[in-house]
Amino acid sequence: MQTNVIQIDHPVIQTKLTELRDFATEHRKFRALLNEIGSLMVYEVTRDWPTTARPIQTPLERMTGQVLSRKVTLVPILRAGLGMAEGVLRLLPDARMGHLGVYRDEKTLEPISYYQKLPPDIAETEVLLIDPMLATGGSGSAAVTLLKKAGVLSMKFVCLVAAPEGIQALHQQHPEVPIYCAAIDRQLNAKGYILPGLGDAGDRIFGT
Ligand code: PRP
Ligand code: URA
Repeated sequence: MQTNVIQIDHPVIQTKLTELRDFATEHRKFRALLNEIGSLMVYEVTRDWPTTARPIQTPLERMTGQVLSRKVTLVPILRAGLGMAEGVLRLLPDARMGHLGVYRDEKTLEPISYYQKLPPDIAETEVLLIDPMLATGGSGSAAVTLLKKAGVLSMKFVCLVAAPEGIQALHQQHPEVPIYCAAIDRQLNAKGYILPGLGDAGDRIFGT
């Protein structure tokens, strides 16, 4: 049991994740499954978000309902985060979207940040940072640092598959950021790929 790591091992998510991992799954189905898992994870990821009372009139009488208290910003890490963020957006359609472009250098595995576009009031919102893969943790840590520089105070990292090395690296720099994942895999290989993993998420989403 790791601190601040929440593995969502719901049987429906696990079934979809197994299909997604299968190398015979082509990009159209891969994209659909990734978005479906993103949607399903939202229930658990948002479970502790505060709500505010809102008086309404039903067709029969007045009542007080509950609605999310804070605005929400989804921030996918380009490219692969886009493939999951769509599914998250389906459940949180009022969310605004920021984008962070980060890729890792194939040789050094160091994160290279190349694009940043965030809503101006992102600091006042609940932020979900989205990337299906947490491998060495370099890209995720760099993205969290960029969001902190933008003033974000409340964020969660939402991924699909996490490597133990990536969890450790992200929490070494940012221990207060909760990591939500559907699986914690065994280890990284010599090239920084997650084992057993699902391969290169970006390539499988976009068919590159
Ligand atoms: C993948 C993935 C993460 C990163 C994880 O992106 O989507 O962003 O690798 O690896 P790390 O934890 O070791 O940093 P990639 O660099 O392949 O870029 P892409 O999404 O544009 O293909
Ligand atoms: N990025 C991916 O897309 N897959 C991995 O296994 C590691 C990093």
